[in-house]
Amino acid sequence: MKKYCCATFIFLISLVFIIYSVNFYFLSRLSRQDSNKIKSKLNSHEIFEYNDIEDERINHENVKLKTIYRNRNPKYTSLKDKLINNYKPCNRSLNFSQIWETVDSWSRETSNEIYPAYSSRMCQFLSALREVKILSAQNFRKGTQLKLNFTIEGGKTVVFKPAWYNRNQVIEGEVYAGKDRHNSEIFAFYLGAVLNFRSTGLVVGRSINIRDILEIADKELRETIISKGNGTKLCVYGKCFYCKPSESVCGNKTHYIEGAFLYEISGPLQKHKSPWQRTYKEGAKALWEIESDNNNYCDNVKQKLSLVRLLDLIDASIFDFLIQNGDRHHYETRKNRVILLDNGKGFANFRTDFTDILAPLYQCCLIRKTTYARLLVFTGGALTEILKELTKNDLLHPILIDKHYYALERRLLKIFSMIEFCKTKYGNSIFQ
Ligand SMILES: *[C@@H]1O[C@H](CO)[C@@H](O)[C@H](O)[C@H]1NC(C)=O
Ligand SMILES: *[C@@H]1O[C@H](CO)[C@@H](O)[C@H](O)[C@H]1NC(C)=O
Ligand SMILES: *[C@@H]1O[C@H](CO)[C@@H](O)[C@H](O)[C@H]1NC(C)=O
Ligand SMILES: *[C@@H]1O[C@H](CO)[C@@H](O)[C@H](O)[C@H]1NC(C)=O
Ligand SMILES: *[C@@H]1O[C@H](CO)[C@@H](O)[C@H](O)[C@H]1NC(C)=O
Repeated sequence: MKKYCCATFIFLISLVFIIYSVNFYFLSRLSRQDSNKIKSKLNSHEIFEYNDIEDERINHENVKLKTIYRNRNPKYTSLKDKLINNYKPCNRSLNFSQIWETVDSWSRETSNEIYPAYSSRMCQFLSALREVKILSAQNFRKGTQLKLNFTIEGGKTVVFKPAWYNRNQVIEGEVYAGKDRHNSEIFAFYLGAVLNFRSTGLVVGRSINIRDILEIADKELRETIISKGNGTKLCVYGKCFYCKPSESVCGNKTHYIEGAFLYEISGPLQKHKSPWQRTYKEGAKALWEIESDNNNYCDNVKQKLSLVRLLDLIDASIFDFLIQNGDRHHYETRKNRVILLDNGKGFANFRTDFTDILAPLYQCCLIRKTTYARLLVFTGGALTEILKELTKNDLLHPILIDKHYYALERRLLKIFSMIEFCKTKYGNSIFQ
């Protein structure tokens, strides 16, 4: 009897072992197939160079060893196919007003979700925005930076943010330095889709012909379109807080200007001051910056905000850290949930990571379970791969140069480091 038990026991153990090994073999084969190409890049120091960082929260032994943060996640493959399928170009079967009506209905019932995870109308919408005719143009006077306000066919308006920089330009200095980057706006839309933060604006890249715009511009805009270069170039400086003739955007020889088309998000939107707002004064620190080594600051915030709001802001900080937007001094909500508008201040410098953008995460040590699970799907170079694939469909592709993609992977690992740091301190209660 004893013998029989023993044999059964050994048999069962072996069975479990065999099943496990076979599974492991196939899973690792699966992930290897995709990742070989990216791995060679990942193993180079470019991505995993932590030496320049003195932050113990990031130089976490735990993370350096954990393979889940370095290898491909088997869940990635099916999600990748769904995303690619959802955003691949297609021909329109609906007219413009029908498409705008569809898009506006997406967000009518929801709070912060601007669009659904999957819809056959998404590709129709994106191609519509890429080809719709601009009927009239005026200045978009709100805000500090040059923006144009276009009325398009089908009775909608879009905001146009022009390109000030080429893709290679590095912007040094403060985290909020420089002007808006149109490619950051475009990229943010796809990043939001990938991370399931579907609360960003809907954006496509597109060039406009400023000579054509001049013809449909109202008087005020016309007066801010000037010719430079001895009459060879047409330039626009617009009307806004910082707008002036010496700082204009000019068309190329055939008068084209690249930019981002931002679809108008239906409201009502509320604006709030961010608890992690910077002072924007040299040498002056905000409260959250002074108390950054303890958790007191977050305790204060917790007393003022609901948990949902706090978790929304932590999601936003993860999103902003990836793109390196350190300029979210105010944020908007719709029906009490945070939406991520105004994402133009990303991708200034692929060499630097401003860690304090993540302050909401490491000061509160909380994160949504769903956010953590979603981030884990895109490990091992998958984030780069999917975003390169999706942004390929934009008229202005490539949206980012490779160095920014390396930085994105590096920042993803830093986020995992922060999460591990919090987990070591507080255990699984950090996952909400
Ligand atoms: C769109 O239609 C054109 C012309 O009918 C066709 O050549 C093209 O393959 C179609 N594209 C897609 C993505 O379906
Ligand atoms: C778009 O299609 C709808 C439904 O077929 C129609 O009622 C509407 O007049 C069309 N709009 C335009 C601008 O063609
Ligand atoms: C943009 O244009 C639309 C249509 O003319 C107008 O209703 C809206 O107020 C304008 N927005 C701004 C900020 O200028
Ligand atoms: C500007 O154009 C005028 C007339 O075509 C020409 O005489 C002049 O040399 C040009 N100036 C410069 C700086 O190119
Ligand atoms: C100007 O830009 C447009 C749109 O990007 C492009 O098609 C065109 O070739 C450019 N013209 C010149 C002269 O570079």
